[in-house]
Amino acid sequence: MSRCSRRVAVPLLCSWFVAAAIGPIDTSAPSLPGGNVANTAPPGPFFQDFRPPFPTTGWWVGYAAPPSQNSLVAGPFPYMSCALDTGLQFGISNQRTFDGTSIIQEPQMDWQASYLENPNTHASHKTTGWDSQSVTIKYFASSGVGFTTYLVPGSPYITLNYDSATILLTSEAGGIQTINGTTVTASPASFTGTKFVVANGAGKYAIYSLAGPITLSATNTTLTGTTTFNGPLRLARITDETTSEGILDQYASTYPTSVSLDYSFAGDNATLSFAWNVIGTTTPLLHLSWPHHRKRLVSPQYVSGLSYLTTKGYMKPVLGNTWHLNYALPTINWQPPRAPQASCTQQILEALEYEIANLAVAVPGDFYYWGKEFQTMARLALIADNMGRPDLVSSVVSLMEQSFAYWHNGAPQATYVAYETGWGGVVDGPGAANANIDFGNGFYNDHHFHYGYMLHGAAVIAKYDSAWWNANRQFITTFARDIGNPSTADPYFTVARCKDWFAGHSWASGIANGAGTRDQESIGEAINGYYGLLLFAEVLGDQDVINWARLLWATEADGAQTYWHLYPNSADPDTPYPEAGLRALTTIGNVMDFQAGAWLFWGMQRSEIAAIQMLPVTPINEGLYDTAWLTGSWSYLANELVDPNVGDEWKAVIYMAYSEIDPQTAFQLSTTIADWGGTNSQTLLLHHLATRKNPSGQNICTLPPNPIGTFTIRASSGNFVSSTAARTNLVADSTTGTPFTFVGMPGGGGSILNTATLQYVTADPNGVYPLSAARWWALAWENFNVVKHADGTYVFQATVNGAYVTVGSSGELVNNGAVAQAARFTLDPH
Ligand SMILES: *[C@@H]1O[C@H](CO)[C@@H](O)[C@H](O)[C@H]1NC(C)=O
Ligand SMILES: *[C@@H]1O[C@H](CO)[C@@H](O)[C@H](O)[C@H]1NC(C)=O
Ligand SMILES: *[C@@H]1O[C@H](CO)[C@@H](O)[C@H](O)[C@H]1NC(C)=O
Repeated sequence: MSRCSRRVAVPLLCSWFVAAAIGPIDTSAPSLPGGNVANTAPPGPFFQDFRPPFPTTGWWVGYAAPPSQNSLVAGPFPYMSCALDTGLQFGISNQRTFDGTSIIQEPQMDWQASYLENPNTHASHKTTGWDSQSVTIKYFASSGVGFTTYLVPGSPYITLNYDSATILLTSEAGGIQTINGTTVTASPASFTGTKFVVANGAGKYAIYSLAGPITLSATNTTLTGTTTFNGPLRLARITDETTSEGILDQYASTYPTSVSLDYSFAGDNATLSFAWNVIGTTTPLLHLSWPHHRKRLVSPQYVSGLSYLTTKGYMKPVLGNTWHLNYALPTINWQPPRAPQASCTQQILEALEYEIANLAVAVPGDFYYWGKEFQTMARLALIADNMGRPDLVSSVVSLMEQSFAYWHNGAPQATYVAYETGWGGVVDGPGAANANIDFGNGFYNDHHFHYGYMLHGAAVIAKYDSAWWNANRQFITTFARDIGNPSTADPYFTVARCKDWFAGHSWASGIANGAGTRDQESIGEAINGYYGLLLFAEVLGDQDVINWARLLWATEADGAQTYWHLYPNSADPDTPYPEAGLRALTTIGNVMDFQAGAWLFWGMQRSEIAAIQMLPVTPINEGLYDTAWLTGSWSYLANELVDPNVGDEWKAVIYMAYSEIDPQTAFQLSTTIADWGGTNSQTLLLHHLATRKNPSGQNICTLPPNPIGTFTIRASSGNFVSSTAARTNLVADSTTGTPFTFVGMPGGGGSILNTATLQYVTADPNGVYPLSAARWWALAWENFNVVKHADGTYVFQATVNGAYVTVGSSGELVNNGAVAQAARFTLDPH
């Protein structure tokens, strides 16, 4: 028996009727520095009647990807399926388990649909067309006989349209037990009718002929036609609900063959429309919805009494050929919608100056890490603009232009940009032959993550340098087309490569490894991908492309809130995850097509799982991190946020997201951060906190910046602090004292330099040894918060361990105290 290959790795009234689908962003042939390359895994004969571009990331790409175009794909839900040479296998998972980390719906095949004349060769099935959600497959013999199947996500029926072919249905879940209650055996028995209720190990299926009575010869393994058949046969799983068979009977005569996607915009609202093309007029189309649809459907007509449990929760029927789904669009583009709070201004400026002075030209080694650095620089330029510092804007933009120029060098470089001709898309050239390069970019993994960062950075350069934009516009547009092409009229790029319109979010998986299981484990970067597209569209100045990018963003953000954010206390009966134990984990790390769970391919800390779904935290994400989710996550993460073994780069992201509901607490906690990771920086963090809604109205940056200048330090004993080359420890035992220079540093504090020895004061991370002026560099151990009190004295807090400096019995300064034990010092200008 053939086997599937399992590869795991507001009503707008009249505007509804206005076709709003927009044209291509561009149609010219990509002309890239790396020329053309061909992926080593070109599409199989599935696409024999077509030329690229082909979808690379959708739910059904496993039907077409090598080595054998027979991967098990999750879809068309509620079914999972695979297109074998011997026929189309499909089934609905009966088994949903929660293993403490994930819910898993183990794929299963219930039936194989085929025809007796099937030559069973690799090239004897192919697609005859596809659209934004569905794909049609034709199984054919040389005589022309065969069948066509329309794989339309959401249909409770599998439809097989036979063309002069003999029906052959094979049970894949144990033997066939009964037909209409009659036991069947190895000896053939004949059944005639237009409906058959067939039971095997998977449960009961209803089989309907829409072309009059047929006779099936049944054994306990197969159902075979006794003559050739012309017309539609439909199969549907009958569920345990007593009403399910009657509902399936009632609506079986109308079937969908494809679906068109449409959208219209009214101000900041969008209506996304799915219009199924159907055959049959006597009853309306019965089609299944997921929880995210039910949040957005306008005037849905639900049918109760039939439901299927899938990884995204229960699918439930809606009547009608057309659905309208309403989404609120983001209204924020470059900058946050309010000015930074005054309490933070000085600190933002200090951090900004420091970070820009320390920037270097980023040389691309890949798309992903380079892109993160490029976008971080872009955000610094935007903040410099927001803070009224055009001088700093131009120095960042100049560095970004130097960095971007590397992409024009082409193939002599280890990393270069090329157009991939097998499937059609822009790739990291060397990656077209190696899925391990750049996270599989050359195999179409992660394009929306990678190109979102690039588009974001490029749009910011373009905003400030129109000559650069004019020179680079065509090149940059190629990346926008790769992830955000709106139109089938673009001959080089598939439409919205990563977006699964029916699933309500994107997939990150491309064609590697037979294009098996789909996944997405950093929804934050997917959302950011469409933010990059939006900023590109703003530079383009094209309102259609702006709205299209906003729709891609809004659907992804809604997907995050529905399927990645978990709500432990939710009483919502329509949650995708009825398992309270899963929801207690607060964040899904990876949504896959057959499972979803609180885990990552690369890390297991709670903070990592949460932060990778949040980052990069940018102004447009206001509202994305909803209060219920943040509140639940905050207590779930509490232990890790005080654990020194958990990376500051994750804590920084979580504090930024948390500032949506409490910027003061976020600020207090972030003063000990010394590492910001790849998509972040001290300036970005401070500016984000300073521009939040601030529900309490209190000051946000409550810790004033360190004093800046050269001072002597006097202890409450009256003695001054000294440190010499011979005795580097800081001891309050002198009558004159050593002059120290205080400079602001990112990290919520600053460094302290001994002006006599030119050594920085360093703190012991364990708070055992005295402070010592013994380092010629200033990094995390050399960072202190120097905080002024109302009486004019100061306390020193070492960032490295969060402890306060006390004065020991011999006058030595040690970072070993709680805040109540902090010694008070006077700073006298030198
Ligand atoms: C079919 O029935 C025969 C006996 O009639 C039995 O030996 C065989 O195992 C059955 N096959 C399946 C797949 O149940
Ligand atoms: C099977 O039972 C259904 C009623 O559930 C009936 O409509 C149909 O004609 C029967 N089919 C056959 C082949 O007996
Ligand atoms: C957008 O939708 C909101 C909420 O449904 C509604 O209050 C508002 O009037 C709509 N705006 C437009 C321009 O349709």
